[in-house]
Amino acid sequence: MKNETLYLQRMMEASRRPAVVLAIASGKGGVGKTNIAANLGICLAACGKRVVLFDADMALGNLDVIMNFTSTYNISHVLSGQRSMEEVIHVGPEGLEIICGASGVEDLANLSEFQRRRLVSELTKLQEQNDAIIIDTAAGISKSVVAFSLASDHVLVVTTPEATAITDAYAMIKVLVGNSFGGRISLIVNMAESIVAGKKIYQQIASVAWRFLGAKVDCAGVIAWDERLRRSVRMRKPVVLAYPKSSASASIAALATKLSRGMAVRTDNESFLKRIANWFF
Ligand SMILES: Nc1ncnc2c1ncn2[C@@H]1O[C@H](COP(=O)(O)OP(=O)(O)O)[C@@H](O)[C@H]1O
Ligand SMILES: [Mg+2]
Repeated sequence: MKNETLYLQRMMEASRRPAVVLAIASGKGGVGKTNIAANLGICLAACGKRVVLFDADMALGNLDVIMNFTSTYNISHVLSGQRSMEEVIHVGPEGLEIICGASGVEDLANLSEFQRRRLVSELTKLQEQNDAIIIDTAAGISKSVVAFSLASDHVLVVTTPEATAITDAYAMIKVLVGNSFGGRISLIVNMAESIVAGKKIYQQIASVAWRFLGAKVDCAGVIAWDERLRRSVRMRKPVVLAYPKSSASASIAALATKLSRGMAVRTDNESFLKRIANWFF
């Protein structure tokens, strides 16, 4: 009943402005996307934003692992028509709403017509009722990752100092630019040796993107390598709750503040729904 009351309350409070859609993408796996998505979501929710965290990593959904809950229902039940989106939402810390991906569900690009339509209409409802939708995408540059990223207002590309992660992050930026992405692209350097070292990596990537792609890549932030983040994963408790004073928590909180200040939606007139639909239909 508590969940329903919260949900109803939020629905009533919902303003007319649609939620800003943030996609967390990377190219390479294991760079920290899911941890950033979860902790960023908690920080934004703690600032009073209505936030939905959508696990679009359908093959390997692991938000439930990090946040320590078991999901009975997930997105596959919504897509099959068995459940509505409201019924599969898990309410997490600070009222953050989480929608889990489903292991074994085919790639979005392989969904049936009926499933895709369900997905689009349910996502539209979510956009109307919230301030931010954070999409935790899968690793790699598959069609569904690209589709979700292109449909977002703002793509946060995550890299680490590792050469392969940097190459993959750049490839992701290149795909977005190549598909005439109309939103904003920002970079997060995670597991940096230090904040200064991370900023240097950002500058290198941003200057190459500007020179060769003519793309403006903003700096969303740097998160240093932090043992407490690793420990928090083993504890199955998001780092901002387990170790609020850690450097990783401070960096993610700063990222949330930065994002909530500049949560501008795209200026091209199409809604998230339309952009997703354009891609799939
Ligand atoms: N800033 C960090 N410092 C140390 N380890 C980190 C950091 N960020 C992520 N990790 C480690 O990397 C692992 C993978 O993170 P995860 O968020 O699951 O990545 P992805 O979603 O990109 O695959 C985590 O379990 C954690 O142990
Ligand atoms: Mg992940």
